[in-house]
Amino acid sequence: MSKLTLPILAAALALVACGGPPPPAAIPEHPAPEPVSDGWLGSLDSHGDRFRALEGYLGGFSSAMWEVGERYLHLHQALVDDNRELAEYHWAKIGDAIRQGYLKRPGRQANADALFLDTVFEPMADVLATEDLTAMWAAFEQARAACIACHAAENVAFMNDQPMLRDLRAP
Ligand code: HEC
Repeated sequence: MSKLTLPILAAALALVACGGPPPPAAIPEHPAPEPVSDGWLGSLDSHGDRFRALEGYLGGFSSAMWEVGERYLHLHQALVDDNRELAEYHWAKIGDAIRQGYLKRPGRQANADALFLDTVFEPMADVLATEDLTAMWAAFEQARAACIACHAAENVAFMNDQPMLRDLRAP
């Protein structure tokens, strides 16, 4: 041991003894080497198989729409509660979810853009940045009409016959 090492070691020990943080070298880089689940991805044979499994698990357009529907309910409630910031939050996430949806199912992009993202999305975002609740409800009705139109255009018009899209209206 060199003459220099001893004082450094003593200082480190003193630090530990008085409850200070241990020297950085003592922190393991990977504190949890165990798999976080049963290692279901690791148990597959190749990265190709893993990507395939993950793609399946992430779902298609319907998993994005599940999220859109859930957030749409919260959007309506936020407007009822006059909670503009919460409405703004869910509206932004609805846009993200639709874009993520057509990342997975590009065939849905044309109608999603034409009927929703390029038409009702920005106007609603703009009006949510104001204090004008009447205009917000008008924008909500426009958004609802766009959801309904896209379902018709994508041959899933039966989606429109459920409380979320049939009964939730501006007051
Ligand atoms: C691309 C146009 C498009 C737009 C815009 C759109 N949808 Fe959809 N929606 C679909 C399609 C297509 C499905 C069926 C998905 C499938 O079968 O994979 C669907 C399914 C749904 C479902 C059922 C999801 C499930 O599986 O439980 C809900 C709820 C829904 N949409 C709500 C909405 C709401 C609310 C809006 C507006 C904020 C909206 N959608 C906007 C195309 C659209």
